[in-house]
Amino acid sequence: MNARTSALLLALFLASAASRQVAAAGNETTVASMGPGPASSQVAAAGDAPLYKVTDGYKVDPETFKGFQTWRAAACERCHGPNQEGLVGPSLVNSLKVLSKDDFVKTVRDGRSGTAMAGFAHVESVMNNVDHLYAYLKGRSDGAITRARVERAQ
Ligand code: HEC
Repeated sequence: MNARTSALLLALFLASAASRQVAAAGNETTVASMGPGPASSQVAAAGDAPLYKVTDGYKVDPETFKGFQTWRAAACERCHGPNQEGLVGPSLVNSLKVLSKDDFVKTVRDGRSGTAMAGFAHVESVMNNVDHLYAYLKGRSDGAITRARVERAQ
C-alpha cells in the first residue's frame, strides 16, 4: 500500500467515524424531543420524578442502573431469562405490563408459595433496591429500555 492509498483510507475511516457520531447525536435529539408517551425516554409515575430515564435504549440513570445490578446479583435471570423473556419463570416483559408495583414488590419479597419463586425478604441487597429493580424491569417491559444489558449514562 503506498502512502497515497493509506492517506485515502484514513480519510475514509475518519469520514465514516464522523458520520456515525452525527447519527448518534441525531438519535438523542429525537428521543429527547418526543415528549411523554410509551416511546418516551422518561416515564413518570403520576406527579413524581421519572421512574427511569433512558437514552438510545440502553443508557440509563444511576438508580435504574442499580436495578440492573440488583437483577444480575440476585440471578433472577436463571429463571426469568437473560432478556426477561421467561424460562422456568414467566416473562417479566409481559408480567410487568399487568402486574402492579405493589404486587411486584410483594412477589419479590414473599415469593409465591408452592412455586420456584422464593421470596427475597432476607436478601438485603434486593429489598434495599426493589424500587430500582422495578424501574429497570418496567423500562424493559415498556420497551423503552431496548436491551437487557444497560449502561450508566455519562
Ligand atoms: C428459581 C427460579 C426463580 C428465580 C431465581 C426468580 N424467580 Fe421470579 N418467578 C419464578 C416462577 C416459577 C414464577 C411464577 C410463580 C407463579 O406461578 O405464580 C415467578 C414469578 C415472578 C413474578 C410474578 C410474575 C407474574 O406475572 O405474576 C415476578 C415479578 C418475579 N418472579 C420476579 C423475580 C425477580 C425480580 C427475581 C430476582 C430477584 C426472581 N423473580 C427470581 C421463578 C424464579
